[in-house]
Amino acid sequence: MIPKLILSLLLISFASCEKFRFDNYTLYKILPKNLNEVKVLKNLYDSDARFDFWKHPAPNAEYVTVVSAPKDKGELEGLLNRNGISFEIAMQNIQEAMDKETVGQYTRSNIRSMRWDRYYPIEQVYAWLDDLAREYPSLVTIEIAGHSYEGRDIKGVKISHGEGRRIIFLETNTHSREWIAVTSVCYLINELLTSTDPETMAAAREFDWYIFPSANPDGFAWTHTGYRLWRKNRRPVGQNLEEIGVDLNRNWNSNWLVWGSAIDPSLINYAGPGPFSEPETRTLATYLRSLKGRIDMYLSMHAAGQMLLIPYGNTSEPLDNYYDALNIGRRAMGALSVRYGTEYTTGNVVEVIDRITGLTADWVKEHLKVPLVYMYELRDKGTYGHLIPPELILPSAEETTDSIIDLIHQAKRFGYMNSGNSINVSFGMKIVCSIMVLRKLL
Ligand SMILES: *[C@@H]1O[C@H](CO)[C@@H](O)[C@H](O)[C@H]1NC(C)=O
Ligand SMILES: *[C@@H]1O[C@H](CO)[C@@H](O)[C@H](O)[C@H]1NC(C)=O
Ligand SMILES: *[C@@H]1O[C@H](CO)[C@@H](O)[C@H](O)[C@H]1NC(C)=O
Ligand SMILES: [Zn+2]
Repeated sequence: MIPKLILSLLLISFASCEKFRFDNYTLYKILPKNLNEVKVLKNLYDSDARFDFWKHPAPNAEYVTVVSAPKDKGELEGLLNRNGISFEIAMQNIQEAMDKETVGQYTRSNIRSMRWDRYYPIEQVYAWLDDLAREYPSLVTIEIAGHSYEGRDIKGVKISHGEGRRIIFLETNTHSREWIAVTSVCYLINELLTSTDPETMAAAREFDWYIFPSANPDGFAWTHTGYRLWRKNRRPVGQNLEEIGVDLNRNWNSNWLVWGSAIDPSLINYAGPGPFSEPETRTLATYLRSLKGRIDMYLSMHAAGQMLLIPYGNTSEPLDNYYDALNIGRRAMGALSVRYGTEYTTGNVVEVIDRITGLTADWVKEHLKVPLVYMYELRDKGTYGHLIPPELILPSAEETTDSIIDLIHQAKRFGYMNSGNSINVSFGMKIVCSIMVLRKLL
């Protein structure tokens, strides 16, 4: 007979290499009518790791989305019915949606084999970045912004048309299950290198773009190989084997653990044992500090909910240049909606979502004093949640790129990002520019 201990170890190792299936797991879209109903949901969110909230219960939430395992659905629906809370079933069986999420195979050394109607695992995204650096040696360099617990690089690209430019920085996939954000920034990279649209070309030339498709590479790898809905990093943090991972968007040293963060390691918003307790946040912060004073715009790319959020997450007070950021953001979201009519809500984190702290975006604003800092929550509004189907990947990537290019345009109108001043153009160029300006004036 096999001893029990060995048997359970075997089971654990078997479990850890089998991909978890979500058969008959259901996505609920809940529509709370008042604060009491929000409170019921909030209690559940704060205490019960069985229910996976994709959009968390907050006072201003038009809707809340949550996934339940088949065995817990009775309990969840019972709670909702007892409290008179309305809900609909957004997806009866989320495994079906996962089965439709095409995962592509990138062909090494063939950058054109990267497609925009599928998702790619971390190794292939990184291989593509390496190939871009080889294909465009004068424009693209590989940057390593840090390291993960399991030793993966936080790899990205710097796209630069010359020394001395101001920086636009994109950090993506801190929450590893938010796949649509990864594809959207890869699409942006591709556009910056290949687009023939004059505005996109100008944006590519004028700034140093630092773009990191995954700030949580271990979590991202695990979403492909083990557990599609993994959100945190992969460091073991608790007493028992199941307690793995810290929410990296709660772990930054800006009002750490003050609001909207859990101290229970089993919960999805666990803030970690201390600020910067995680290698991913610590190493990325060090890298960002090395760019201090050079960054004009910082974008923290998340999903979902269609929101553009402005620091800070501890207060709805309009701190720093809040009103400029708001006006610039709103206009850019107008540009986002042009192509497919997708509507975003723009505003302060607290007003649009709730009080949440330890955010990457807040730390960047507070400590690096970057003029324009935004946190994107990409598509959608509760229909597919984190499981955006293949036919909607490209539309989402296109509109996101439109909005980022327009953010620059709007920022300039408000007197930001006028990096032309700081580019060390040659004297000759300066004369040409002055003549052009004069001609416009005359
Ligand atoms: C899912 O639910 C259906 C309908 O209730 C049932 O027939 C099926 O066996 C379930 N699948 C699994 C894997 O539990
Ligand atoms: C919110 O956080 C910012 C940045 O740390 C700080 O300057 C501000 O005083 C805080 N406001 C409140 C009300 O806690
Ligand atoms: C501009 O370029 C010149 C020559 O390359 C250099 O000496 C100078 O320091 C640069 N100025 C700035 C502001 O970077
Ligand atoms: Zn997120």
